[in-house]
Amino acid sequence: MAKSKKALIDGLNEDLANELGASILYLYQTSVATGWDGEELREFLAPEITGEMTHAIFLAQKIADLGGKPTTVPKQHRSPKSVKDMLKYDLKLELEAVENYRLRTIQAEEAGEIGLKIKLEEMILDETGHAEQIQRILKGM
Ligand SMILES: [Fe+2]
Ligand SMILES: [Fe+2]
Repeated sequence: MAKSKKALIDGLNEDLANELGASILYLYQTSVATGWDGEELREFLAPEITGEMTHAIFLAQKIADLGGKPTTVPKQHRSPKSVKDMLKYDLKLELEAVENYRLRTIQAEEAGEIGLKIKLEEMILDETGHAEQIQRILKGM
């Protein structure tokens, strides 16, 4: 396997672990959040449980198609207790995801995977949207 392809698969596997971890974290947070803020967090975050899982499903299939082995181990998170701190934590994750996918588009291009590059750009759009939404919510808290 070419070095650029190997690096791409390794990177995608990190992304997969992050997406699985984010989906589980959001499931946890929507389950335990309380109060009015918690109610709003639940409404905003619930669709992202499946949203991040959809990203994970895409990545796992792509890793397998590229000849790699998709990880089954999610990134572990310890959620802060207050809703505001949860949102700050989630914002950090979303911004990290944007940066990781930015690097991954470069690796995809280097490996000649242009279709993947376009899909990763769409995922950057998703994660940027999440980050901007959280930033707006935090501004009003
Ligand atoms: Fe995601
Ligand atoms: Fe996200």
